Amino acid sequence: PVESRVEDLLKRMTLEEKIEQLNQQTVGDNNNPNNNGYKKPTFPAGIGSLIYFSADPAFRNTVQKRAMEETRLGIPILFGYDVIHGFRTIYPISLAQGCSWNPELVEEACAVAAKETKLSGIDWTFSPMIDVARDPRWGRVSEGYGEDPYTNAMFGVASVKGYQGKKLNEQYSIAACLKHYIGYGMSEGGRDYHYADISAQSLWETYMVPYEAGVKAGAATLMSGFNDISGIPASANPYTLTEVLKGRWKHDGFVVSDWGSVEQLMAQGVAKDRKEAGLKAFMAGVEMDMVDDIYGQNLKQLIDEKKVPMTKIDDAVKRILRIKFRLGLFDNPYTPIVAERYLQPESKAVAAKLATESMVLLKNKSKVLPLGSNIKSIALVGPLAKDQADLIGNWSAQGDPKDAETIIDGFNKEFAQKAQINYAKGTEIDGTDESGIAEAVAAAQKSDVVVVCLGEKKTWSGENTSRSNISLPAIQEKLVAELKKTGKPIVLVLANGRPLELVRLEPMADAIVEMWQPGVAGGTALASIISGRVNPSGKLDITFPLTTGQIPTYYDMRQSARPNSGKYQDIPTDPLYWFGHGLSYTDFTYAPISLSAAQIHKNQKLVATVEVSNTGGVTGKETALWYIASHASSISRPMKELKHFEKKEIAAGGKYVYKFEIDPMRDLSFPDADGKKHLESGDFVIMAGNQKIKFELVD
Ligand code: IFM
Repeated sequence: PVESRVEDLLKRMTLEEKIEQLNQQTVGDNNNPNNNGYKKPTFPAGIGSLIYFSADPAFRNTVQKRAMEETRLGIPILFGYDVIHGFRTIYPISLAQGCSWNPELVEEACAVAAKETKLSGIDWTFSPMIDVARDPRWGRVSEGYGEDPYTNAMFGVASVKGYQGKKLNEQYSIAACLKHYIGYGMSEGGRDYHYADISAQSLWETYMVPYEAGVKAGAATLMSGFNDISGIPASANPYTLTEVLKGRWKHDGFVVSDWGSVEQLMAQGVAKDRKEAGLKAFMAGVEMDMVDDIYGQNLKQLIDEKKVPMTKIDDAVKRILRIKFRLGLFDNPYTPIVAERYLQPESKAVAAKLATESMVLLKNKSKVLPLGSNIKSIALVGPLAKDQADLIGNWSAQGDPKDAETIIDGFNKEFAQKAQINYAKGTEIDGTDESGIAEAVAAAQKSDVVVVCLGEKKTWSGENTSRSNISLPAIQEKLVAELKKTGKPIVLVLANGRPLELVRLEPMADAIVEMWQPGVAGGTALASIISGRVNPSGKLDITFPLTTGQIPTYYDMRQSARPNSGKYQDIPTDPLYWFGHGLSYTDFTYAPISLSAAQIHKNQKLVATVEVSNTGGVTGKETALWYIASHASSISRPMKELKHFEKKEIAAGGKYVYKFEIDPMRDLSFPDADGKKHLESGDFVIMAGNQKIKFELVD
């Protein structure tokens, strides 16, 4: 009945009422970095959508009542908000979530976030961000799932499923929005909003992959990007927005522009005025105009001038109404007022699990971790040890820093009666004040081990927060250098929103734990890993370059024409930690990979299995990452591409057989510059752990 209700309503709408549906404005407490200079509107009753940076269902109901009762047709407003890694119960940033390799857990987290969101009067989140991001200087790497297309696809799909539930009109479902379609993650030099030079080949091979998966998973909406790709702005690109999205992928929801991305077509040099900008974005396939009010002011005239056909308006309005009907907004436009809606035990439990699974043990020289029972005193130092705000991370919706467990709280609980905690801040995150370093050194001198909590401010990640140098401020490096002189084992804990340059810090550290910006439950999660109560199981979803100058350093590069040459003269060419790196307190031994056949035809499947034994004496979770490579195709291919992964707990002394069923068209083909898939016969290599094996694909 959704379609017939859409048709019926559309027939009764005037042109003005239709145009109202294509408009989005903002209302509420507004913490959006885009918001500078925008005035609060006068809460229009007839409007397609409101960005509602608030958590007041009663206020939503008042605004919604006007739409329902004071407009001729009573069309409900769609309320949207950036719920990126939790609404009030804040989870680790998405970049961290990807390191968990546990999409089921991310789905659960998004479902819990959807409940908090829905009960706060919001129907729609501008999430997940699935921009493949390969430049850690870009502040928004924190918002996605790293450098790999497949990983972004898998976690994007998990988020869509979590937010949207089985059906959009379920009690706690909200609409998802895949963003930022497309290529935003490739802004030149990591500078936000900049041009992205993406070849048609890379567009299909890399950037489109998660979007296609997200659309197939049923994402209700997409957001068009700020960037332009090879001369065509993402918000005015008929090829990606209409031909591919609506034509080939049959997406029947709608596209919203990003904040100001219609007006910005003028800055990008493709529109002479707001009217032309509106024409280009609308005709390209952007149905809803975020905040610019360009559609509201210009579409009628553009129709009168016959530049925009009525059929196009009707199609756009239908898409928006369809999502409103699917969400059940016409039948249930109001939000019930529920007192206990935040930080409920189930949401805190998911936050804790996700924080634990997403932390990555990067280094563990001489097995300094976990801290054994011989450790009677721990110097817990550094600017992040008592911090709350920065652990919450950027784009944290209604997250309150006061909800965040500090690292020191986690340590005090974990090591109570076992070890003395000697705290000293040492330094601020940034600046030049060295006056606290002596106290930190004194704490180190009277302790058996030093745990130094370093990192970035949360404001250094997110939108418009690019950094030209991804090392930590010199003052933090100085703190570690002074602590190192005590001769005590040094454990670095990092809380940051992007990969860091650790070229000076890494040699001083015995162990390094990447805790990311873990959300509300970071303190306990970290302490449980440091004590060994929990065995770390995270692996990186993004490569850590050795130095900033090495960027780009993504793992699925193409082979150099001279593999043993072309190196940097001043630094090693390899990054510090590759995508997929992550240690455990146990050892996992991979047996040789077995294949169901050494040769398959294109219409056959191949089953690869690998037996992994836990030989290290501690129960732990291992993620098998399955890669495929082909070294002789009609075009050059990435050195290897991730095609499948599975995470499994293996008891100490136990074994598990990981399995990957290879579907040739899905896993062995490659797209051309127009997205058409080609499957070529030839030799392929399949890899997992330290094992690899060849097989042949024949016609
Ligand atoms: O969703 C965001 C987007 O990611 C960046 N610009 C503003 C939008 C709405 O807040």
